[in-house]
Amino acid sequence: MNETLKTIQSLRSIRNFSERGISKEDLERILEASLRTANSGGRQVYSIVVVEDRELLEKYFYRANKALVFCVDYNRWIDCAERLGHKITVGDIRGFLLGSEDAILAAQTATIAAKSLGIDSLLTSSLHREKLKKVYNALNLPKKFCFPLLSVCLGYPTRELPYLRGRVRKGVVHYNKYQRLSPEETDEVIAEYDIEEKHFTTMTREEIVKEGFEHYLDLGFSRWKGDFPEEEIDDCYATLERVGFFRMVG
Ligand SMILES: Cc1cc2nc3c(=O)[nH]c(=O)nc-3n(C[C@H](O)[C@H](O)[C@H](O)COP(=O)(O)O)c2cc1C
Repeated sequence: MNETLKTIQSLRSIRNFSERGISKEDLERILEASLRTANSGGRQVYSIVVVEDRELLEKYFYRANKALVFCVDYNRWIDCAERLGHKITVGDIRGFLLGSEDAILAAQTATIAAKSLGIDSLLTSSLHREKLKKVYNALNLPKKFCFPLLSVCLGYPTRELPYLRGRVRKGVVHYNKYQRLSPEETDEVIAEYDIEEKHFTTMTREEIVKEGFEHYLDLGFSRWKGDFPEEEIDDCYATLERVGFFRMVG
């Protein structure tokens, strides 16, 4: 396996960040790598806020050493257009999707670059659990055409993790045509999640059964139903509408 693939295969999330700081040089390398990411139409309709403020890191970013907030952002593009006397339209769903794609790809490149330098990361949508107006104020985000999409927490772990989390392949990769899993194949996937060595959970098989669940996914679906708090959902809709990316229809 070459070094690039080794780096990608060693990616993992950490949540126990140590005090050890990331050097200025490494931070620059991560940012430069992130900026190399492909982007829609060469416009880079995203921005990166580098968070170094301890209070913010503790509050929003798992006490990481640094965090990079990747925002969908059309403000630089709008400013350039206005300087040249052009009027452009950006506030639609296609624009939001393109900006999101730019931001997400750049964030993933940052995690790979960091890992290649021995720095671990945690991708998080933690800001969407916060009052978004407060987040905009804390980061001084533009009030229009900017949305904090995804953050990358960076740092070193306090202790080594015993394993890498597993990944499922069946039903994820499709050749030529999408093929929905048969009931038997679905059972195979469910069984795959149960394999302790693949470590989809930090709980052992024994602990899961002791909790009264037959499968890891029984535990997963009973605990994480995907029902986010109503106020968080409303705040996301309201913010997307306020900043100009989303309009209520009907
Ligand atoms: C979009 C996105 C949002 C995430 N948000 C969180 C989060 O808020 N909190 C957290 O602990 N992990 C978060 N994660 C990390 C995932 O839980 C983690 O990547 C997944 O469990 C796989 O583990 P691994 O990265 O160690 O392989 C997020 C990952 C992604 C891609």
